[in-house]
Amino acid sequence: MATSIIERIPTVQLGKTGPVVGIQGLGCMAMATGYYGGQDDAETYATLDRALDLGVTLFDTADAYGDGKNEEFLRPFVRANRDRIVIATKFGLVHKDGGVAIDNRPAHIRSAVDASLRRLGIDVIDLYYMHRRNPEIPLADSIGAMSDLVTAGKVRYLGLSEVNAAELREAHAIHPISAVETEWSLFSREAENEIVPAAAELGVGFVPYSPLGRGQLTGGHDAKSLEAGDVRQAMSRFSDEHHAANSALIAGIGDLAATRGATPAQIALAWLHHQSKVFNLAVVPIPGTRKPARIEENVGGAHLELSDREMEELSRLAQAVRGDRSRQI
Ligand SMILES: NC(=O)c1ccc[n+]([C@@H]2O[C@H](COP(=O)([O-])OP(=O)(O)OC[C@H]3O[C@@H](n4cnc5c(N)ncnc54)[C@H](OP(=O)(O)O)[C@@H]3O)[C@@H](O)[C@H]2O)c1
Repeated sequence: MATSIIERIPTVQLGKTGPVVGIQGLGCMAMATGYYGGQDDAETYATLDRALDLGVTLFDTADAYGDGKNEEFLRPFVRANRDRIVIATKFGLVHKDGGVAIDNRPAHIRSAVDASLRRLGIDVIDLYYMHRRNPEIPLADSIGAMSDLVTAGKVRYLGLSEVNAAELREAHAIHPISAVETEWSLFSREAENEIVPAAAELGVGFVPYSPLGRGQLTGGHDAKSLEAGDVRQAMSRFSDEHHAANSALIAGIGDLAATRGATPAQIALAWLHHQSKVFNLAVVPIPGTRKPARIEENVGGAHLELSDREMEELSRLAQAVRGDRSRQI
């Protein structure tokens, strides 16, 4: 049973000078891209509206998602609610010749931002992330170009995705970084070693992506239930090889959830919110969904407090995860 609390969530500031957002955002990547199977468009737009009603204000997209289709899908919602939302998008991942290249050259950044603005139908992007770092391009050149976009009024705040602590420090010294977006969940705890402490030290906000383990932590998604073409079929954690170990972990989360009258998704999100206290930094997870009932359920996770004993039990369970995380998208 889901917790019945669906009141609006509180807000937090990302970074010392960054945007103020609801403490949970909405990951929009699967919308209109087919990455996680098909969707009902009306239901997906209703999910965006319901999220906003509940205090979710950070909406996460990227130019690479569906090669622009994701930003285009979001356009009517973004335009209708321009002053009430914080739209975050990204540049740097470019699909070509059947593969993915990383392009962080200043010339690419300058054309990418104009293309994103056009697709989103707006004249300023609130939070602009470098999606991936290409070590062949000096970071100072890329951050310099991003900083110029702030000066030009095309972007308000800067973010980085999947960088290491040294890269974050170097970038932050050139222009304040408001947020780091990296995978972080009960399934993926590597971020706690280096990048989360660095963000806390610098006062940079943290935006954990795939906080529900790309759906697996909800207990409702295994490889056999995925539609043809769903990109998760190729991901290690969804493989037959690792299914049994991961199912046992998820069943343990389900047992704990039952004792709290909550759902596994809510427990996984409450665990991340608790990390905000552990590491003393702003943590704004961005679970993805295209279903209004699920946005209500997931927002419930932001209202749920876990005890130290429950956190310890979840840490113990999390050690059982098998399979590598995917960094492709
Ligand atoms: N920066 C990066 O490199 C990067 C990489 C990956 C993702 N991201 C961002 O992070 C966001 C979230 O990550 P994600 O979408 O990969 O994974 P996620 O949020 O961990 O999981 C999303 C999956 O869980 C399902 N789901 C959501 N709530 C549920 C619930 N309460 N019960 C059952 N199923 C539920 C969704 O299905 P439905 O949609 O059908 O509800 C979807 O299949 C993305 O949308 C994207 O914006 C960023």
